[in-house]
Amino acid sequence: MTEASSDVPTRATAASAATASTTDRADGNGAQATSIVEAVDVHKRFGSLEVLKGVSLSVERGEVVVLIGPSGSGKTTFLRCINHFEKIDQGRISVNGRLIGYRVDAKGNLREERAAEIARQRAEIGFVFQHFNLYPNKTALENVCLGPRKVRKISRDEAEELGRRLLQRVGLEAKFDVHPAQLSGGQKQRVAIARALAMQPKLILFDEPTSALDPEMIGEVLAVMKSLAAEGMTMIVVSHEMGFAREVADRVVMMDDGVLVEEGPPRQIFDHPAHERTRAFLAKLL
Ligand SMILES: Nc1ncnc2c1ncn2[C@@H]1O[C@H](COP(=O)(O)OP(=O)(O)O)[C@@H](O)[C@H]1O
Ligand SMILES: [Mg+2]
Repeated sequence: MTEASSDVPTRATAASAATASTTDRADGNGAQATSIVEAVDVHKRFGSLEVLKGVSLSVERGEVVVLIGPSGSGKTTFLRCINHFEKIDQGRISVNGRLIGYRVDAKGNLREERAAEIARQRAEIGFVFQHFNLYPNKTALENVCLGPRKVRKISRDEAEELGRRLLQRVGLEAKFDVHPAQLSGGQKQRVAIARALAMQPKLILFDEPTSALDPEMIGEVLAVMKSLAAEGMTMIVVSHEMGFAREVADRVVMMDDGVLVEEGPPRQIFDHPAHERTRAFLAKLL
């Protein structure tokens, strides 16, 4: 089922477009700290089902935001809207001061960008999936090299050097030439993280990166994510790994039924949640 097709303008105001370009200028000067992600009043419907009901979230450069909430609350959909895997029905999302997936036409309406431009924008946003989404017929190294070679047009040698370096970084120097079927879940997810890093993203979105893993492999993936956070990567992480969230998150955001219910530092949200919906959700987790 489709929503806003490319010739149907999404509802948005000229004012919101002006805000986006202001952010752009500030960013260009490098003088001001700006948000990497700016989502404003995002609505998303699948047919008659409204899944996102006005979600607004800003994420600062270098910030780690952990998104929690019950199954079906819209967490995956929200992440997918940020890199325009999904079109939005209302509102706007910008990354690094640029609207994602849309441009503003002469009348101030949002129009969907051309596919090539969307691909270019998406290349700057890493996405790590719950089920890895590696190419099964390619080796670990090929999985990591493919994006830089196709999108960044770098040479095979350069791409392979980059790929080896990144696989080493996630502890997989022994697995360059191995296919995904011969890797454990934790190893597959580390290849997927190396693949995201290969595009030199400004931001990485993680959608329940450890929830498909056997318990003994969760730690090795979280350790890689922790090291990325320590190096200043901006990350939005859908995860219910409380230990990770307490240690690494700058902010925990609770989503329920298509809205952000509350947000705050991990200790505040986990130990003193303000909302009944957060309390009920956390009680079920423990
Ligand atoms: N492509 C789709 N088509 C129709 N409904 C969808 C689609 N993707 C997600 N949904 C519905 O949107 C709601 C939110 O899903 P999702 O974003 O996956 O939630 P979460 O990640 O929090 O579990 C659910 O009711 C789900 O069934
Ligand atoms: Mg999900």
